[in-house]
Amino acid sequence: MVKAIVSGGAGFIGSHLVDALIDRGDDVHIIDNLHSGRIENIHPCATLHVMDISNPEVKDTIVHIKPDVVFHLADQAEAAASAQTQNNDTELTIDGTINILDGCYLSQTKKFIFASSAAVYGENQKDLVSEEDPVAPISCYGLSKLAEESYIRLFSRIYQLPYTILRYANVFGPRKAAEEAGGVIAIFLNQLKKGEPLKIYGDGNQTCDFIYVKDIVKANLAAINHGDGEIIHASTAQTTSINQLINHLRNVYGSEPKTIYLDAKAADIRHSCLDNGKARKLLNFVPSYDIVDGLRETYEAEVLNKKREQRQEL
Ligand SMILES: NC(=O)c1ccc[n+]([C@@H]2O[C@H](COP(=O)([O-])OP(=O)(O)OC[C@H]3O[C@@H](n4cnc5c(N)ncnc54)[C@H](O)[C@@H]3O)[C@@H](O)[C@H]2O)c1
Repeated sequence: MVKAIVSGGAGFIGSHLVDALIDRGDDVHIIDNLHSGRIENIHPCATLHVMDISNPEVKDTIVHIKPDVVFHLADQAEAAASAQTQNNDTELTIDGTINILDGCYLSQTKKFIFASSAAVYGENQKDLVSEEDPVAPISCYGLSKLAEESYIRLFSRIYQLPYTILRYANVFGPRKAAEEAGGVIAIFLNQLKKGEPLKIYGDGNQTCDFIYVKDIVKANLAAINHGDGEIIHASTAQTTSINQLINHLRNVYGSEPKTIYLDAKAADIRHSCLDNGKARKLLNFVPSYDIVDGLRETYEAEVLNKKREQRQEL
């Protein structure tokens, strides 16, 4: 059993991670300001500390909990959509990460695991991007992730804090918000639910590396004991185009969804796929879900509402 802190544990990915840790019998604390996180996402056996990570008191909270492992996921994930525009909260996000790192150092945390993103690569044109490829973010969100990664490496160098940085591909699954920044799958499922046509920006041939949330959880759990001092992709290394995604949705949905094609958005990255050879080697990580299995589970939870009901029965 480990004592874990999950920052952002009331959010989409964090809440699935909390569920998995509790299923393992771990003692789980959540630090979340409930900005986008939701109380109903939180497992009843987890301890919630409602707190903003930019508040220096977060350090005392970490010292008081004295965790073995800290998973740092708290971030304004909606900022991912804010492409080139200035995000006023970037400095607060970086300050928050430094507070958490301070808390980890002061409490002698054995492992710090960070949720980074493919956004650090910007518009890399390669079919399969590796961890060694140059980083060149084209958004404040990507730049902020890169700055946070640098602070983590600095803290590790100065204070010997053991860490793993996981750069996630595009994560989908139940509890993902369906706002514009919520990712295309959440948006499509919400449009299906409302009986609206699926809106496709551009020709639909743009591709993405979609990874199911339970596989991201699997990579995080593997990083507790492996991948020290490394930056590792958490990805499927498979691409799916938006048109292919609609085909898969057709099978899951059981009938033909209506679609409309609109002008491409200038800021959209056309192709993104992260190599996962390093994760296979260092974390022994192999994704368990293919896109169709993940879509089916997400559709059942979000559109048919099965899993939400299960949560209420807990
Ligand atoms: N969803 C994806 O496809 C994806 C891809 C790459 C990386 N990531 C990263 O994974 C992490 C989790 O993303 P998500 O999709 O679950 O987002 P989310 O918005 O669902 O969850 C983020 C959580 O952090 C909390 N939070 C935000 N700012 C905070 C602050 N200042 N103090 C305390 N809590 C705060 C929110 O309330 C929320 O519960 C983020 O760091 C995100 O950048 C996500």
